Amino acid sequence: MSVRTIGVVMNGVTGRMGHRQHLVRSVLAINEQGGVTLSDGERVLLRPVLVGRDPARLARLAARHGVAEHTTELDAALTGDDNLIYFDAQVTSARVKSVLRAIDAGKHVYTEKPTAESVDEAVALAEAAAARGVKNGVVQDKLFLPGLLKLRRLIDGGFFGRILSVRGEFGYWVFEGDWQEAQRPSWNYRAADGGGIVLDMFPHWHYVMENLFGRVEAVYAKAATHIPARVDEHGAAYEATADDAAYGIFELEGGVIAQINSSWTVRVNRDELVEFQVDGTHGSAVAGLRDCRIQHRAGTPKPVWNPDLPVATRFREQWQEVPDNTEFDNGFKIQWELFVRHVLEDAPFPYDFAAGARGVQLAELGLRSSAEGRRIEVPAL
Ligand SMILES: NC(=O)c1ccc[n+]([C@@H]2O[C@H](COP(=O)([O-])OP(=O)(O)OC[C@H]3O[C@@H](n4cnc5c(N)ncnc54)[C@H](O)[C@@H]3O)[C@@H](O)[C@H]2O)c1
Repeated sequence: MSVRTIGVVMNGVTGRMGHRQHLVRSVLAINEQGGVTLSDGERVLLRPVLVGRDPARLARLAARHGVAEHTTELDAALTGDDNLIYFDAQVTSARVKSVLRAIDAGKHVYTEKPTAESVDEAVALAEAAAARGVKNGVVQDKLFLPGLLKLRRLIDGGFFGRILSVRGEFGYWVFEGDWQEAQRPSWNYRAADGGGIVLDMFPHWHYVMENLFGRVEAVYAKAATHIPARVDEHGAAYEATADDAAYGIFELEGGVIAQINSSWTVRVNRDELVEFQVDGTHGSAVAGLRDCRIQHRAGTPKPVWNPDLPVATRFREQWQEVPDNTEFDNGFKIQWELFVRHVLEDAPFPYDFAAGARGVQLAELGLRSSAEGRRIEVPAL
């Protein structure tokens, strides 16, 4: 079978996500496995063109991974006819400008979430891509996590009966940066730089809810900045102006209520950094990144409230592990393969800029709900 190579312009690859998940675990991993296989058997290799602001860092990164092309000139990278795809994993605040340049140049565009900082800009990106006729996609990696794929399998198999509610807990302690280095970049804690946990996580929760449980019809959220001062990568103190925790209630079509806490100021007392409990009339499940446990209605205990007696039942031991039944690949890589097939042979790819804009819309309405202290309906975009 034939093999072809396409250029992929990758911006923001010196960052956490761009480097690890997109360059190493997706694009380079795809090449190592022999490319993306199209439906006619043709294989497609990806030729990364690294774009960034610091030529020395780019050169080091390129050398480390055996990548031949790197540049600080985005427009130069976009002029190459063989460079079919532009990918963006820059800080969120830098995204819209670069993505619009790529659309202007006629490139198909794939980007990290959120696609923009405001819903107006996110919609403008979707419109610009449609007007120019370029394929577009946004990262929705959580959908491809083993834990959520198991949840999908349970839903498709009718395990839950009627789904009543979803409880999500996401978060961990992000160090303040003074006595221990922070494990996330400081821009995340400055509102002016596109930071904030609502803008970061509500787009994720939006596509999880929309794809697994139904359209989000209304939101009530309370965002908080629990830690008002932090210390950055260079040891300088700064004011944390962005929200670092958000407590959200979402009303979904069909009456499902989802309640999701997101926090960088919580200490983990869970099995995984994110967990979703889904309760249905016929059964319940708790899904994390990898694992998923279930309890069927027939195996449900009957606790009786009596604070005078010690707890005699180990409730968590009464749940059953959902087996893997398959090999799970890296979710970012799976989505890259889908996007390449979408570009080259029009394979379905529902995770487009319109979906990205709905995620940004939920973040924007969540922040407005918090500021105004009220429930807000989510209009169709
Ligand atoms: N899908 C996910 O699970 C996930 C997880 C974390 C972050 N993200 C998203 O990925 C994007 C990057 O996040 P990250 O955590 O990798 O950030 P990061 O700070 O580690 O990397 C940011 C990248 O953008 C570049 N950049 C361009 N313009 C910049 C500017 N003006 N200031 C600072 N850096 C600039 C940096 O050089 C770097 O390459 C964000 O949009 C974020 O929302 C997605």
